[in-house]
Amino acid sequence: MNSSILDTVVFPVAGLGTRFLPATKASPKEMLPIVDKPLIQYAVEEAIAAGARTMVFVTGRAKRAIEDHFDMSYELETELATRGKQRLLDLVRDVLPEGINCVYVRQRQALGLGHAVLCAKPLVGNRPFGVILADDLINTRDKPVMRQLAEQFAASGRSIISIKRVARERTRQYGVVDIGDADGPLSAIRSIVEKPEPSSAPSNLAVVGRYLLTPRVFGFLETTLPDHRGEIQLTDAIARLIDEQGVDAYEFSGTHYDCGSKLDYLKATVDYALAHPEVGSAFAEFLQTKVKCND
Ligand code: G1P
Repeated sequence: MNSSILDTVVFPVAGLGTRFLPATKASPKEMLPIVDKPLIQYAVEEAIAAGARTMVFVTGRAKRAIEDHFDMSYELETELATRGKQRLLDLVRDVLPEGINCVYVRQRQALGLGHAVLCAKPLVGNRPFGVILADDLINTRDKPVMRQLAEQFAASGRSIISIKRVARERTRQYGVVDIGDADGPLSAIRSIVEKPEPSSAPSNLAVVGRYLLTPRVFGFLETTLPDHRGEIQLTDAIARLIDEQGVDAYEFSGTHYDCGSKLDYLKATVDYALAHPEVGSAFAEFLQTKVKCND
């Protein structure tokens, strides 16, 4: 029996990943590796570190590789065992630790993030649940962000979402919150709006892909109409949750990479490669020679 306040985390992975074509033509953007681990594995590890045991993937077409990644690979394991490659065998087996369940549900139409989350309702049931957007990779010094949200939720029982400050001109890429004059990292949200123009944005505090929500949000998602882009926005359901139950924002400390963008993806690759135990120092030397050559 899992005593954690958070049992289930939802991973919406049905998006097309058009910003990474042609790499994402036949394989999911969530399988893009940062050094040697796919983005979705960082996300699942974060959910497990927050105490979750049930991983719900909301998938779409061309996403089979995600299911295969978290499945057991008999041929590979047998081959590695026969060749005595114990370290690699452990690495492969650790992709999904004992006691963790993966469940898959298909989002049949691309109707937006809110619709994707709603597809997970039958699997989540009437419990609080997390949402992690795998292309928002967050590197924290100590506790991963979802764990921080779970701790705050355990104390308050209120839905909570992670935010960070962005340059004003980037508000049109994010959900943006108004928290008034914040005093510390945790604040009650007054209002939230999806992708506002910089001129009308209530602040420069952007929602990044970590949410811990009460199941009440499903009721709101069921009655949320598509916006002008034809998408059911999670943000719109959260706006109604704010009015009824209150929702908190948590400004995390850590480095966020929007790995749906090529530049941030490359920055993440460099930072994680420099910190990698196997290649870190050799890569640092390489970068130094590279920088000198370009001087
Ligand atoms: C989604 C959400 C948005 C949030 C963002 C974080 O947008 O709708 O509110 O700020 O994720 O990455 P998307 O990036 O899917 O367009």
